[in-house]
Amino acid sequence: MPSSNAKPEIPKPSAEVSNMAYMNCQTCTIDLRPLNLPVARNTQDSTFRQIYDDYITTNKSPKSSQHEHARQLSSAVLSLKVGIAPPVAFPTETVYGLGADATNPSSIAGIFAAKGRPSDNPLIVHVSSIEHLERCLGGTPEKSAIPLVYHDLMRAFWPGPLTILIPVPPEGQGVKFAPNVHPGQRTIGFRIPSSQYARFLLAVTDRPIAGPSANSSGKPSPTTAKHVLDDLDGKINFILDGGSCDVGVESTVVDGLGEVPLILRPGGLSKVDLKRWGQKNKNVWANVENGWEVSKGVKRKRSGEGEQNKNGDVRHTPQRNGMAKRKHSANLEYVLNSTTEESDMQEVEAAPRAPGMKYKHYAPKGWMILFDAAGHDHCTHDPETTSILRDTLKSQISMRGFPSDLPAEHRDSIASTSSASSLVEIQQSFTIAFLTSTSWPPFAGLETYIQSLFPTWKLEHLPGGSDQGFALCSGPAQGPGPLTKNGVVPERRLNVHTLDLGRDATTISNRLFATLRTCDDLECDFIFAEAPTRSSVHQSRKKEPVIINQIEEDGEFETVLERMKKAASAVLQLHW
Ligand code: TXA
Ligand code: MG
Repeated sequence: MPSSNAKPEIPKPSAEVSNMAYMNCQTCTIDLRPLNLPVARNTQDSTFRQIYDDYITTNKSPKSSQHEHARQLSSAVLSLKVGIAPPVAFPTETVYGLGADATNPSSIAGIFAAKGRPSDNPLIVHVSSIEHLERCLGGTPEKSAIPLVYHDLMRAFWPGPLTILIPVPPEGQGVKFAPNVHPGQRTIGFRIPSSQYARFLLAVTDRPIAGPSANSSGKPSPTTAKHVLDDLDGKINFILDGGSCDVGVESTVVDGLGEVPLILRPGGLSKVDLKRWGQKNKNVWANVENGWEVSKGVKRKRSGEGEQNKNGDVRHTPQRNGMAKRKHSANLEYVLNSTTEESDMQEVEAAPRAPGMKYKHYAPKGWMILFDAAGHDHCTHDPETTSILRDTLKSQISMRGFPSDLPAEHRDSIASTSSASSLVEIQQSFTIAFLTSTSWPPFAGLETYIQSLFPTWKLEHLPGGSDQGFALCSGPAQGPGPLTKNGVVPERRLNVHTLDLGRDATTISNRLFATLRTCDDLECDFIFAEAPTRSSVHQSRKKEPVIINQIEEDGEFETVLERMKKAASAVLQLHW
């Protein structure tokens, strides 16, 4: 083990690692599961290092069947330590990370390049133990360099999905972190992941490893090695595979350095658990507040499209489908808000304190509309919601020029709901997905209704894995029609899928990003998603809601809803 303030030794790159590609990489996935790593919380770094040394040594002989695996693993580890190749993707319990040595500016630049990440978005740094963190910050067991406010917190929740902000150590104290790890920030976010694979990597590299989520910027965070490959194939050399991530959403980022502790990004550790622990231990974390919303002074680039509500949030009404605030019935009105686009945020006056929160993340390629009845006890699948869904669906399919052979009564009702006839773009095929959660049935209950819109089209059941689906096909035809080429009208298809996110917040967290990626795989043009409702989440968990300061709160619920809003192109809020 290196002594307290020792600089990490820089190994000599082997010829193989020196020649590794920065671009047009032959990305290789290395399965870590055959290593059979111990899972205990208290496993020491030295144990992980011993396992690694034994594995690499025993597999050095070219005769060994595992030789190739060991060779790749040692190249991945060496490339991280030497820092001359692109970053290495690795599993954590939250999501996959894209790792590079946090003290090496050119390796860190490689992370931004591979992800296409905006250069003002700081990175989280992963360490293997509290002792490792002290060493990086220039502290000792006698004189800690970690702010006191975090001491009990780290011991309670690490290793695990919690990131804490700590001031950048002064020049000459601890290691010198690369400036591009913390662009524009006086703090760095640190965490100790609980995944044995992440801890193994941190132990064997003995480096503070900066690691954002290993997705291309703007895509949902990856929760399997395959998701990483889908995004970064050819851009990195190695993906370490540890199977599916247990938590499925990123860590909770907290700032305990101000007067009131803040959650800058909700995540895998829920606010309720944090508060409950703070109350039990009578410390400041009992008062932790949400600090992630852009609260005041948000200006959109285009004026006249939004209205401001009493919280200062701008409700934005896109021109695209001409929907403004509408009264659906005496009891229910709804508002369609387009969510924040990166480009719309150029005039933000009060930026969120975690810079990453201002970007539109987790977005599938298709247009996703989130039906949100949050805060209400109403089930989101009642007759009124169903009729709003039908209207939205009809206007969407008509915008693709699909009502060409609709029965007259449907055509008329579409004409009345679609004010955007000029936007009709004729498509040969159109794919819709329903993402159901706490109360929608499969296809939001609209399967028969959709089929009734196309009475003459052929119905096909689509083969699926976790999703179910059907398609309606027009069949090839002669004569005039949309997309006509040489007098032949090609077959047109409407594909409809339904994907279940789960009925409780933990399952939804676990499945959300993978489901959004499935929507991309299915090439969905339009996604109707149901925001889970608080009351249903509680009911399905069969436990009492947690009452803190007289307010019903559920941190996991908040995390899921925040991620879904980020993924959505628009949020349709239902107000009873
Ligand atoms: O679970 C996780 O946190 C994953 C795994 C790989 O550990 N990592 C992750 O990193 O989600 P990333 O870079 O995708 O998200 C980090 C978030 C961003 O919103 C960033 O703006 C914020 O944390 N952040 C990082 N350092 C910060 C700082 N010094 N001050 C404020 N916000 C910071
Ligand atoms: Mg990320």
